[in-house]
Amino acid sequence: MIIAVDGPAGAGKGSLCAALQEHFGFAKLDTGLLYRAVGLTVLRGGDDPEDPVAAEIVARALQPDALDDPALRSDEAGQAASKVGAIPGVRAALLDFQRDFANNPPDGAKGAILDGRDIGTAVCPEAQVKLFLTASLEIRAKRRYKELQSRGHEAIYARVFDDMKMRDERDQGRSDAPMKTADDAFLLDTSDLDIPGVFQAALKFIKSKTT
Ligand code: DC
Repeated sequence: MIIAVDGPAGAGKGSLCAALQEHFGFAKLDTGLLYRAVGLTVLRGGDDPEDPVAAEIVARALQPDALDDPALRSDEAGQAASKVGAIPGVRAALLDFQRDFANNPPDGAKGAILDGRDIGTAVCPEAQVKLFLTASLEIRAKRRYKELQSRGHEAIYARVFDDMKMRDERDQGRSDAPMKTADDAFLLDTSDLDIPGVFQAALKFIKSKTT
């Protein structure tokens, strides 16, 4: 079984996918990390993440151990990821790895959970379960701001808000596999839900699709 979980930053995808992984024992892939690793490697090489040639070379050479770097969680890596994600050659280079993970989950897992922007529409359009999480920009920015503070980072709310807005616009506006809700996805607005509430709503939908 493939569970596709798409949506913008701060909508609660990460927490939901962790809870689903625990519940079902499936393998989980945070596909944003692939784009973050490409973006950060391009930056570290002194190149511009909007340079299609530099970004595609990095994407084609990406190794799985690059996904373990804690620096991938930074907002700088998130912005660079969004920029390289708008380059079709980068998306093409990362596609096989994601599809292979979905169809042959590691360690004999009976299913895969993929978290991203285009899983239900482009990477795994055949997924049995598609969820699209969303929440208002204000709420998502507040969540991100609190998360940064709790990790001891200095953060300015207005900056977090503006960065998120810019990233949303780029991810929705790109021509190749833009972030959007698949026609057969369950659209879940998490603005007024806590993590257990999101999990219960998702589980109800998954049961309706699989029993
Ligand atoms: O989920 P995240 O915040 O780690 O994603 C970082 C960026 O990577 C996101 O703004 C756009 C890009 N991305 C993408 O284009 N496609 C995906 N499937 C996942 C992420």
